[in-house]
Parts: sequence; C-alpha cells; structure tokens
Amino acid sequence: MEHIIQQFSLERGSLEIEYMEQYFEEFRERKTAVEIMQRLRGREHLILLSMGSTPEDPEHSVPVAFKVGHELRPLEHEPQLHDLTERLADCLDLRERRVFYSWIGGTRKQWRGQGHYRALTEQQEEWAHRNAYDELVVKTKNHFYGMRATLDHLHFDVLKFERNSQNNGDSKVYMHKRLNPEVIRKHLTLRMVVEAA
Ligand SMILES: CC(C)(COP(=O)(O)OP(=O)(O)OC[C@H]1O[C@@H](n2cnc3c(N)ncnc32)[C@H](O)[C@@H]1OP(=O)(O)O)[C@@H](O)C(=O)NCCC(=O)NCCS
Repeated sequence: MEHIIQQFSLERGSLEIEYMEQYFEEFRERKTAVEIMQRLRGREHLILLSMGSTPEDPEHSVPVAFKVGHELRPLEHEPQLHDLTERLADCLDLRERRVFYSWIGGTRKQWRGQGHYRALTEQQEEWAHRNAYDELVVKTKNHFYGMRATLDHLHFDVLKFERNSQNNGDSKVYMHKRLNPEVIRKHLTLRMVVEAA
C-alpha cells in the first residue's frame, strides 16, 4: 500500500491539526491552532498528515493520522521546552547533537493498524536525516500502552524514565532514535509526499 502524506505550511497545518485532535478521546488537552503556531513559529518544524479513504466513499480521502515535530535547541526560552531540555540534560547533550522533537501525533481509531503512523514516522525520520538531525526524541506516558508498543515496533529506545510517585501510569517515558543512512534504508513503507499550501 502506498501512503499519501501531505506536508503542510505552518498556518494551514496548525488548523488541520486542531481539527484532527478533536477525534482523539485519549488527549486530555487538545491543542489549538494558536498554541501550535506559537510553538512552531520561528523554529524548524514539520507538519505531516496521512490520508485514508472512507468506507462510505472509497474514492474520497480524508486526513486520518498526523505527526508534528520541531527542532530542539540547546538554549530554550519557551517555558515548556526549557523544562523539557532541563529534564533531559543528564542524558541528552543538545550542544553535541542536533535533535528533532517528535511533539504530537496519532491515528484516528477507525484507521489504526494500517501502517499510517509507521509511514508518518518514517517520513519524519527521512526528512530529519536529510536536514542534518542526529536523532529523534519523543515523550510519552507509562499508561499509553498502545503508543509505547508502537514506538517499540518503530525501534525507539528508552532514553529516560521519570517516575510520578503519585501515579506510576503518569510517569514520563522519553524515547529516542538515532538517525543514520542504515535506519533510513530499512524503512518499510511506500510513501508519496505532497506539499499542501
Ligand atoms: C499509537 C498509534 C499512533 C498507532 O497508530 P497506527 O496508525 O495504528 O500505527 P501503525 O499501524 O502505523 O503501526 C505501527 C507499528 O506499531 C504496532 N502497533 C500499533 N498499535 C499497536 C498497539 N496498540 N499495540 C501493539 N503494537 C501496536 C503495529 O503493529 C506496527 O508495527 P509493525 O509495523 O512492526 O507491524 C494510535 O493507536 C494512536 O493514535 N493512539 C492514540 C494516541 C496516543 O495514545 N497518544 C498518547 C500521547 S503520546
């Protein structure tokens, strides 16, 4: 199966992601387009959506999965990113390595298990490698079993585990994947990438 992936500009992409997130009951706080733009503006980023057909009309395709990532700098001033880099300071040297942060993503329920997230992840990896990033970093929580299992299948390694003493399910799990030509060569999905406005 060839995956059709759309790569979006900041403004349109942020609106698309805001719209997509409505479909995810797993997300406690959904991101608004304004928040997404605030995070991504002025930093290198990548907004990808994977298209899938609807059972009602197989000829018609709609966005069914998304993935958004951005660069992580050694000196972050934005409070959430500053906090992230502080928490990872003991295991990630951002002055030594160029890191792409795989920020948010998911696949709508009806389209899960069809390789959309693998396709988006592999596309993100290819793009990040082409743009001279050394590794991807992603954050999840202990109780997001599906996401943890998926990251396992996609060969992300555990970078750090940060226990939440009140609720272990809420413990943070940081994962990463080093990028190199071998990783890119081993990609499994067939993808066509279209630049959306
Ligand atoms: C996790 C999620 C993104 C997977 O999306 P998907 O499009 O169904 O994933 P894919 O079909 O591309 O699967 C990728 C790989 O992960 C595996 N996988 C996917 N979901 C899995 C699950 N629930 N349990 C075990 N493995 C799983 C697949 O078998 C596949 O492995 P393979 O390519 O080696 O065969 C999707 O279930 C989702 O959006 N979940 C909600 C999001 C979420 O929990 N977010 C938490 C915040 S981090």
